[in-house]
Formats: sequence, C-alpha cells, structure tokens
Amino acid sequence: MYTLTYESVATGKIIGSEMEELLQKARANNLREDITGCLIYYKGGFVQLLEGEKDKIVALYEKIKMDPRHNNVSLFSDDEISKRTFPNWGMAYYPIDENNTNKYEYEQFKRNLILLSDLIEPTNVTSKQFWKKIKTMISEPPII
Ligand SMILES: Cc1cc2nc3c(=O)[nH]c(=O)nc-3n(C[C@H](O)[C@H](O)[C@H](O)COP(=O)(O)O)c2cc1C
Repeated sequence: MYTLTYESVATGKIIGSEMEELLQKARANNLREDITGCLIYYKGGFVQLLEGEKDKIVALYEKIKMDPRHNNVSLFSDDEISKRTFPNWGMAYYPIDENNTNKYEYEQFKRNLILLSDLIEPTNVTSKQFWKKIKTMISEPPII
C-alpha cells in the first residue's frame, strides 16, 4: 500500500454546497477504489492525506492535480505503507473556517483537531508530516 500528502490553494472561496458536492463524489469514488484519508480546509488552503493501492492513489492524485477548484498543488511526503492511518474514513473532512463559526467554536475545533492528532498513532513518516503540517498551520498567529 501507499500514502501521500499534499497541500494546495483553493482557487476561489469555496462555499458549503460546493464542498459538499466535492466530498460526496470523493467519498463515493474512494469507497469504490478502497481509498481512505483525511482532508483539511483552512484559510483558503487544502491539506490532504490519501492512502490505498499505489496505482489507484497515483491515478487519483493525477486527477486531483488537474482540478480547477485549487492550484499550487504540492506533494510534501509519500511512503510505502503496510497499515492505514485512517482505515475507517473514506474521506474525513475538517473545515476550519473562522468566518462560519464563532470564535469559541473555532478555538474548540482547533483544539479537537490537535487532540485527534495526538490520538491517531502515526505509523509512517507521511502521516507524521501530515499532522505536523496541520499543527503548524493552526497554531500560526492570526493575520491582523
Ligand atoms: C482538495 C480536493 C480534494 C479531492 N479529493 C478527492 C478524493 O479524495 N477522491 C476523489 O475521487 N476525488 C477527489 N477530488 C475531486 C477530483 O479532483 C475529481 O473532481 C473527481 O475525482 C472526479 O470524479 P469522476 O472522475 O468520478 O467524475 C478532490 C478535489 C479537490 C479540489
């Protein structure tokens, strides 16, 4: 098995219904292809981890790179693996959007994500890199 993680920049402001459509499609495809992973949306950017059979992941990544809903897609880690990090998640999705939630919910959400990163045991370098990226991202001070 194989895993990769990349980051990208959303092309425009992605609204809730567009994201729902994307996720619905992604989850149906991933279920069929036995692909699992996690997608984070934060401050106009995506970070995604994908895992599954290598040829399927490579093919999906090629497709994702061409998607006009984001650009600057850049791979920052990949690995051959024997165990999945997100075995039960067709595509877990975490939108961290300051504009859609109040300050308290927003902080709570970030805390939950950090908690989750401590609970999920990283069994390979790529998933370690994925969580490291998430943690760095959400602990950045807000832009004033
Ligand atoms: C940030 C981002 C993450 C995506 N993740 C997935 C995914 O995990 N699985 C998937 O099938 N498509 C994903 N897509 C959508 C693909 O780029 C593509 O639109 C979709 O796979 C097309 O499916 P189809 O060939 O069945 O029409 C993602 C798109 C974006 C912008």
